[in-house]
Amino acid sequence: MFTASQLLEKINTHISEIQYTRTPEGLYDPVKYVLSLGGKRIRPVLMLLAYNLYKEDVASIYSPAAAIEIYHNYTLLHDDLMDRADMRRGKATVHKVWNDNTAILSGDAMLVLAYQYMAQCPSSCLKEVMDLFSLTALEICEGQQMDMDFEQRIDVDEEEYLEMIRLKTAVLLAVSLKIGAILGGASREDADSLYDFGMQIGVAFQLQDDLLDVYGDPEVFGKKIGGDILCNKKTYMLIKALERANKEQLTLLNGWIAAEAYHPEEKIASVTDLYNQIGVKAVCENKMREYYTRAMNSLQSVSVTEDKKSELKKLMKHLMYREI
Ligand code: IPE
Ligand code: IPE
Ligand code: MG
Ligand code: MG
Ligand code: MG
Repeated sequence: MFTASQLLEKINTHISEIQYTRTPEGLYDPVKYVLSLGGKRIRPVLMLLAYNLYKEDVASIYSPAAAIEIYHNYTLLHDDLMDRADMRRGKATVHKVWNDNTAILSGDAMLVLAYQYMAQCPSSCLKEVMDLFSLTALEICEGQQMDMDFEQRIDVDEEEYLEMIRLKTAVLLAVSLKIGAILGGASREDADSLYDFGMQIGVAFQLQDDLLDVYGDPEVFGKKIGGDILCNKKTYMLIKALERANKEQLTLLNGWIAAEAYHPEEKIASVTDLYNQIGVKAVCENKMREYYTRAMNSLQSVSVTEDKKSELKKLMKHLMYREI
């Protein structure tokens, strides 16, 4: 069995060795750029870890593992455009370095590349893997649409938020594990338990991402702080703040949500101050912990020895305390 950091190194090397032989460069340079910025690469690592619970020859699934990372990076190109985000992984986003059309088209190309790499999985699993991947890709679009629709609403509740992040984020972590398990020859039950495990971690992961968008250190997090506040994203913290605010706080919060002309820094500082007063950071952290506990329970149902699960547990703990 390999450790998560060994698998990370392997997939990093594999992705860095991908050759882009096609032209025009204007299409492929942004692909190289975003993939050269790294990121945590948790999705391919999860796929490799799940595979490695059952099989040792991890190199045989580098293509689908690279596919899931390329796919994830494609979603980031489009997401940054949709969220008007100009920084990612400590660098300017593709639409900033190039332009909006480039982010759209290079993103499209990455989606196609992801399908090509995914289709290089062993032919015995091809149909199942491609069906799962396609369904997940569709779910992510659904989640992203909900995320945007919610920007215009003020009555989004906790349940709707959890469903939105399940779709936009959690299903990709879940399917990474499930595809790894299927390729490794896991039983149907194990593949499903690993999917559930990934889903719970995924929800906790997005709760954490939302929290870091307000409370993270921009140097470490690599994204601009306060972007979600500026877009009126209905994050768990905003939903809870609207729910728990007193009359005066609610008036202020609604004022910022409705505001059209403002200094971005002032809106971020004022909304953050309201979050601090209302205490929504701790509420969000509790919810996160709840999902990590659920994840641990799903992992218990996977029928491999406890020592084999230890890397997944370690990775989960690591994610729980992440600042990036
Ligand atoms: C960012 O994903 C998008 C979310 C789902 C929150 P990551 O936090 O995995 O980003 P990278 O790939 O490590 O940069
Ligand atoms: C990410 O949500 C979901 C997808 C990219 C599909 P966010 O919009 O919160 O991700 P970041 O914060 O930009 O990485
Ligand atoms: Mg975003
Ligand atoms: Mg987004
Ligand atoms: Mg975010």
